Amino acid sequence: MLQIFPDTSTIAEHVSATLVAKIQSKPDAVLGLATGGTMEPIYAQFVAHAHRVNLDVSRLTSFNLDEYIGLSPDHPKSYSAYMREHLFSHLGFDTSRLHLPDGMTQDLEAHCKAYAAHIQAFGGVDLQLLGVGGNGHIGFNEPGTPFDCPCHVVELAEQTRIDNSRFFAEGLMVPRSAITMGMAEIMQAREIVLVATGEAKAQIMAEWYQQDVTERIPFTALKRHPRARIILDEAAASLLP
Ligand code: F6R
Repeated sequence: MLQIFPDTSTIAEHVSATLVAKIQSKPDAVLGLATGGTMEPIYAQFVAHAHRVNLDVSRLTSFNLDEYIGLSPDHPKSYSAYMREHLFSHLGFDTSRLHLPDGMTQDLEAHCKAYAAHIQAFGGVDLQLLGVGGNGHIGFNEPGTPFDCPCHVVELAEQTRIDNSRFFAEGLMVPRSAITMGMAEIMQAREIVLVATGEAKAQIMAEWYQQDVTERIPFTALKRHPRARIILDEAAASLLP
């Protein structure tokens, strides 16, 4: 289902309300979390909303989609640091229940298997938040990733590294590789909310709209998901027919 909202702040309010409702109805829910610019206003709104309604988040479990290889959780550009800054440090989470892939692991393959198994051990994700890359990636599942691919190591596409360089100060390189939850874990989530905002997402949204399901555009897989919502602002929707 495609929904178009006027701007990022109405989207943030809407997605925040979805999260709060989910947590109120299932306080021990398993959330799949994303990072990136799209999520920043959403997490800010959710934190404010959660404070307003005194939301208990202590029983939640979360699994983040991805982490850069070679960045430790203390590195300011790691996704671990992002999550602390924008969400985890603001509410009463049980930090032992908050999971991200370990970008410093010595055994990448074993870690990917263990991360996927950990998600399964919790019964999969109840509500998965997603942004989308300018090339259609979700998590870091770049174009061409098989839809049945589990958590894995990925060489980032050149466009992804260029897009994400805006988060890295001059002289700091965007890492070349990452660990990402696979299309398999994402598609197993019981409910998915993908958000795309801004003109930079308009072209890929138009392609998504016009194309059948194809591994060339990973997020077209959501067309087959029974409970996936694609939420756009007017700028991201501006090239839809
Ligand atoms: C982030 C992630 C990515 C981003 C996507 C969009 O954890 O998995 O798929 O959601 O690259 O990034 P932004 O929101 O910065 O445009």
